[in-house]
Amino acid sequence: EKGGHEYFMLKEIEEQPEALANTLRGHFVNGRIVLDEQRMSDQDLRDVDKVFVIACGSSYHAGLVAKYAIEHWCRLPVEVELASEFRYRDPVLDRDTLVVAISQSGETADTLEAVRHAREQKARVLAICNTNGAQIPRESDAVLYTHAGPEIGVASTKAFLAQIVANYLVGLALAQARGTKYPDEVAREFAELEAMPEAVSRVLTTVERVRALGRELADSKAVLFLGRHVGFPVALEGALKLKELAYMHAEGFAAGELKHGPIALIEEGLPVVVVMPSPKDNPVVHTKLVSNISEIQARGARTIVIASENDDIVRPFADHLIEIPAVPTLLQPLVSTVPLQVLAAEIARSRGYDVDKPRNLAKSVTVE
Ligand code: F6R
Repeated sequence: EKGGHEYFMLKEIEEQPEALANTLRGHFVNGRIVLDEQRMSDQDLRDVDKVFVIACGSSYHAGLVAKYAIEHWCRLPVEVELASEFRYRDPVLDRDTLVVAISQSGETADTLEAVRHAREQKARVLAICNTNGAQIPRESDAVLYTHAGPEIGVASTKAFLAQIVANYLVGLALAQARGTKYPDEVAREFAELEAMPEAVSRVLTTVERVRALGRELADSKAVLFLGRHVGFPVALEGALKLKELAYMHAEGFAAGELKHGPIALIEEGLPVVVVMPSPKDNPVVHTKLVSNISEIQARGARTIVIASENDDIVRPFADHLIEIPAVPTLLQPLVSTVPLQVLAAEIARSRGYDVDKPRNLAKSVTVE
């Protein structure tokens, strides 16, 4: 049942191309992006003047990626909030606020209560959910189902990637409604998304090499993860995976913050994973990251660099190089997350832990 794999998580990691294709299917019809259950009018969608994204854990990291896409494509301000914090302050919400609630299970208590709070304040709620008929989509004004299929591993993998794709679809639906993108531009972006399952399949060819690296790192005391732009949420997700599976101290940072404190943590031999954007697509951020890597390398860190194929600039700074397909920066989390999932799972396995059932964690968290 694990499809010949030692643990479900690896099977689910390998199912990601299919999960993405399934999530995209049926959402571009007659040249238009369509949502699943839209109980709000197109006019309501057009009137949106502010977006909140609320979620927990990995789903929150997917939400951080949404901010980059929605702000860029729709010219709408987006705030991303942990669901457990959202309703205990006093967020400014009204009927023109769109709250995007992301939840694999659709039953997470913190997210559900945040949705209820938003609706009481008359905000519209759009749910991104992997479970048909769960409570959060039932209480929402529109739904986008991720069709990642059931996840057995407690740690989110294919659901996470599918959530990111769903966020892009929400961004394109808003851009289409608001007219910030012409129909042919929406079609072009959708075509880029349709190329992503294939790109993820190509990353999967590196699995055995990444597993070997994981075995080498299994005795590390801590691992740091650095990224910029959409690579920052990927760094946070890589660190969360390592904490929850391998019980290892791990932290993700925005690379620009390094000099404001975390650089003090760098010592001889400390593994530091750096997520690089494509030098062609985002040369400005690429250059900044190269200078961050050179700073940590000069202090003796062991650099593990996730970089686009043919990135010759970063090569001299990488003690270990993991190559991913060169894709547009905004979409890169779909490929750059995959090696981090494999790395965490393999480190956990090498340390003798149950990758599919990490201690103290439940698949669905129905208490606040
Ligand atoms: C991490 C993980 C959790 C969930 C979080 C939210 O691998 O699985 O952090 O992402 O508990 O769960 P959902 O998405 O079901 O609301």
